[in-house]
Amino acid sequence: MPEIKLDKCIQCLKCVNDCPSGAINIESGVIDPSCIHCGHCVAICPESTIYPDKGEIKKLEAVGILPVNFENLSATLRTCRSYQSKEIDSETMELLLENMKHYPSASNSRPLEITHVKSKDMVEKLNDTTAYTLIKSFNFISSPLLKPLVKVFAPSIDIPKLAKYKDTFIEKQKPGSSQVCYHAPSVLIFHGPVTKFGMAAADAYIWATYTSIYAHTLGLGTCFNGFISNAMKRSKSMRAAFNIPAKHQVYAALLVGYPKVKYVNQVGREKPKAHTL
Ligand SMILES: Cc1cc2nc3c(=O)[nH]c(=O)nc-3n(C[C@H](O)[C@H](O)[C@H](O)COP(=O)(O)O)c2cc1C
Repeated sequence: MPEIKLDKCIQCLKCVNDCPSGAINIESGVIDPSCIHCGHCVAICPESTIYPDKGEIKKLEAVGILPVNFENLSATLRTCRSYQSKEIDSETMELLLENMKHYPSASNSRPLEITHVKSKDMVEKLNDTTAYTLIKSFNFISSPLLKPLVKVFAPSIDIPKLAKYKDTFIEKQKPGSSQVCYHAPSVLIFHGPVTKFGMAAADAYIWATYTSIYAHTLGLGTCFNGFISNAMKRSKSMRAAFNIPAKHQVYAALLVGYPKVKYVNQVGREKPKAHTL
């Protein structure tokens, strides 16, 4: 629990008003167990008199990113599918992991764990097992027996397009071709417990997105990898092979490494349809 040092408290009530759980009794200094440990009370206290569950109080620095910087960053962030063989050193990886403490999580439940796959053999194994798991699924969906059912129950699946995609995918799948992992030196797998009402899947993509942006500032390139997360979701044996705990599901995967390519032009794209009520 955060700790309120009442002797320094000026009763401004900023913490009380900002607490999402309404958990603070400022007269007694007692915080109710409904506290979600988000630390808003610590962050907002002008006298720095509320101490966090973990670590010290650190003053926030003014953010120097202008809207134009963010626009430029957004246009610059491209999926990286071509990596140098250079490994990510442990200090840099630690920076990526450490910063995850700042990322948002539904109800601040922070259910995610990260598995860092970094050995060349394991990345290759991840690539190949993902490819074979997906080929099995493609074969299943596009099998002549299932075709009529897919047409009725999943009309959005374009079977001829899928069949062509499958053929190209199978053709490319040769040992060492790395068509899923693109020889990335590191893969981060975001996983967490399976819950009925939890939002770990949303958390995972948010965490992967923040990680991708931070990685970019460190000179790294990234690729969200739906192939890996889809294959892992389907395959219990794959999860076991990568030591994902039995009660966990895989929610996202991110390839990380030093890019071989550099993009120099912005790309024109449609903005999303917007609706105003
Ligand atoms: C949820 C998600 C899953 C993705 N999965 C893959 C993938 O498995 N393999 C891949 O090469 N790219 C993958 N991508 C990258 C997209 O193809 C890419 O974001 C898109 O083509 C736009 O290009 P850009 O990221 O360079 O702007 C994925 C992106 C997202 C958001």
